[in-house]
Amino acid sequence: MRIPMKSAFARTFLFFTVAICLTSHAPAKAQIPSRPAPQAPVVVEPQPVINPTNTPLLAVAAPMPAPAPTTPRKPAYNSCNVESNTVAMTFDDGPHPKLTPRLLDILKERGIKATFFVIGKCVAEYPDIAKRIVAEGHEIANHTWNHPQLPKLSPTAFAAEITQTNDAIQQATGILPVTMRPPYGAINAGITKRLNEEYGLSVILWSVDPQDWKIRKSDHVSSHIIKNAAPGAIILAHDIHASTIDAMPAALDALQAKGYKFATVSELIAMDRPAAPKATP
Ligand code: NI
Repeated sequence: MRIPMKSAFARTFLFFTVAICLTSHAPAKAQIPSRPAPQAPVVVEPQPVINPTNTPLLAVAAPMPAPAPTTPRKPAYNSCNVESNTVAMTFDDGPHPKLTPRLLDILKERGIKATFFVIGKCVAEYPDIAKRIVAEGHEIANHTWNHPQLPKLSPTAFAAEITQTNDAIQQATGILPVTMRPPYGAINAGITKRLNEEYGLSVILWSVDPQDWKIRKSDHVSSHIIKNAAPGAIILAHDIHASTIDAMPAALDALQAKGYKFATVSELIAMDRPAAPKATP
């Protein structure tokens, strides 16, 4: 840009004025995140400065355009309608100090990404395991602070369960969750609406349930998963039971041998397509 100036002093004065102006309008640095978010990183490329009218450039380049809209999320999911043989493995109620790291090793050996619906108070106790979940490419998601039945809570207690858990996850990992699973699958329309609209959380239920919390036999857990998996399935399991972790190598190997791919819940949702219209007679 060309700015006619009578003296070196005037140029210097203008330079410092612009510098101070830009600095004072710079956004505040985020306080919470302790590491860069590996999920959906936003890369801001430097933009060429175009100034056809040759007006003074006192402002930074125009804001980036919003990303292209993706398929709008539904309020809640039991499964997704996908074209490929893809499923989402989900693990609830951790992190567990011994079993979650063991599960993470099993997933890593197979290159499988999963989703962990974590309990807020366990994240506060084991933040390093929450960090590892995120560092290894898995999705971390909200499963409340204390595992209550949400429909039984007052609005204030409900808000505390969700907010404290989001805060603990964000403090440990830098990630703000976009999915949540209500404990026991206990949910209603009003709670779903609050979770969607106030917290930006999609409600994730499941379509395959090996009842691993009740039947603590790894053979049962693995065979139930292998038998019931289908494209778009959301598979429920709990990484706080040794029998569940023991079941995983056989279950995951069998699904991979059948040609299944594994996605996080948010990845599966991104593949979701509207169901085909019913054929008219
Ligand atoms: Ni649970």
